[in-house]
Amino acid sequence: MTHAPAANAVAPDYEMTVVRQFTIMTVVWGIVGMLVGVIIAAQLAWPALNFDIPWLSYGRLRPLHTNAVIFAFGGCGLFASAYYVVQRTCQAALFAPGLAKFTFWGWQLVIVLAAITLPLGFTSGKEYAELEWPIDLLITVVWVAFAIVFFGTIAKRRTSHIYVANWFFGAFILTIAVLHLVNSAALPVSMWKSYSAYGGAMDAMIQWWYGHNAVGFFLTAGFLGMMYYFIPIQVGRPVYSYRLSIVHFWALIAVYMWAGPHHLHYTALPDWTQSLGMVFSLILLAPSWGGMINGMMTLSGAWEKLRDDPIVRFMIVALSFYGMSTFEGPMMSIKTVNALSHYTDWTIGHVHSGALGWVAMITIGAVYVLVPRIFGRKHMYSTQMIYTHFWLSTIGTVLYIASMWIAGVMQGLMWRAVNEDGTLTYSFIEALNATHPYYIGRFIGGAFFLTGMFFMAYNVYMTIAKEEARDLPNNEEKKNVVLA
Ligand code: HEM
Ligand code: HEM
Repeated sequence: MTHAPAANAVAPDYEMTVVRQFTIMTVVWGIVGMLVGVIIAAQLAWPALNFDIPWLSYGRLRPLHTNAVIFAFGGCGLFASAYYVVQRTCQAALFAPGLAKFTFWGWQLVIVLAAITLPLGFTSGKEYAELEWPIDLLITVVWVAFAIVFFGTIAKRRTSHIYVANWFFGAFILTIAVLHLVNSAALPVSMWKSYSAYGGAMDAMIQWWYGHNAVGFFLTAGFLGMMYYFIPIQVGRPVYSYRLSIVHFWALIAVYMWAGPHHLHYTALPDWTQSLGMVFSLILLAPSWGGMINGMMTLSGAWEKLRDDPIVRFMIVALSFYGMSTFEGPMMSIKTVNALSHYTDWTIGHVHSGALGWVAMITIGAVYVLVPRIFGRKHMYSTQMIYTHFWLSTIGTVLYIASMWIAGVMQGLMWRAVNEDGTLTYSFIEALNATHPYYIGRFIGGAFFLTGMFFMAYNVYMTIAKEEARDLPNNEEKKNVVLA
């Protein structure tokens, strides 16, 4: 059995246009989403930047940021890599290419509608599921089309096994469908207003079952699919342990589903569900680290690549942040720790160690591997620019999360400090004042990361625009991949 992505002697006529489109839009939406991130970071440091204009206010731009980075940037990256990987590893062209084309245009329409409706203030009020019901319906149609194309391609594969990356992509597609359908159930009262089908604690429970599994399956499983394909391809070695990758897969999907209540500690949710969420979150450390170690060890014997391949650096740093955030998450889910961290910027630090460190870095690595291949070039236009991008991203991420960690722990400690007579030692505004320098630190970190994205955009543009390297063989992967 082959244990690594393989290439066939006779290449089928792969459907690459849709992969190219999604790849380009990954870069474009990455810049847009992160730009909005930098703007809201600036607004938190200097509130005057809200300009008293409702549609520029923090409350409206914040969901625009989260939707743009998760669903536009992350989503396009996932579509691009799922379509590329499923074709390569199944040795089959996409099933229903017309439908694949529809997913591209449909998904872009969803994004544009989000970019219009969120600043206008239309929202369901559910985090990461803010879009109103007509857009939710469109998402459902696009997602069903995505599932048909993906699983149809698996069904017509010319290989005997289904490579592990596809398991992760498949789980991501199926689970997001279920989460979206259940959590978005709502009663429309007008074109742009609906109310959740659930009420009270039940609504909260379903929302965070959705929210946490959006993290687990959108921000994790899909990107693990990327990791399991692009790391072996880039380092030219098979996955360290295929057996571990299967254990990793089943353990991860079995455990993630139960951890959601850690978002609702000390709320009206029944206490036993909170404890259940905490215990499953602690267990989640094991499969998460199993996956991280599997990715890291794929490099064993080829560590020198870290010295001279900036793309591999992106991937290894991504895995390190994946390991870090999946250690931090279980710790934060312990009720006594959560009593300190909840409501503080520690959570924001945790989010971005996962979002910037893991999700964005692995996506950037995958895009750098993809672009020359799908546009028929030998390599990226400038390796030096990838190095520059790497350092800007790494320094930016560290600045961002270190600022938020310090700010978060400080806020938690200041809020809980009491004098001997039981009164609060600090007023809220004193804690906010103490946080101000760290908000500036976060803004600078974000600006670093965003600047790196501009280097990437230029590099991608020049790679495509330069004609001279146009002779990459269709099955270039063959020489890179070692079969186990
Ligand atoms: C230049 C890069 C970025 C900057 C400057 C930035 C900035 C911000 C800011 C200021 C917030 C609001 C924090 C608060 O409410 O206190 C935020 C929230 C958030 N961002 Fe980012 N961000 C960036 C990149 C990303 C990326 C790439 C992702 C995902 C892939 C992401 C996902 C999120 C999420 C999920 C939240 C909501 C967190 C929560 O509710 O706890 N961000 N970001
Ligand atoms: C073992 C894995 C993980 C566990 C157990 C975990 C646990 C937690 C906990 C306890 C919180 C704080 C909840 C609160 O106090 O409100 C949290 C928040 C969050 N985590 Fe994780 N985390 C994990 C991995 C990740 C990863 C890899 C990412 C991103 C790629 C991520 C993204 C988020 C987001 C976006 C939030 C904020 C949700 C919100 O309040 O809006 N987590 N996580």
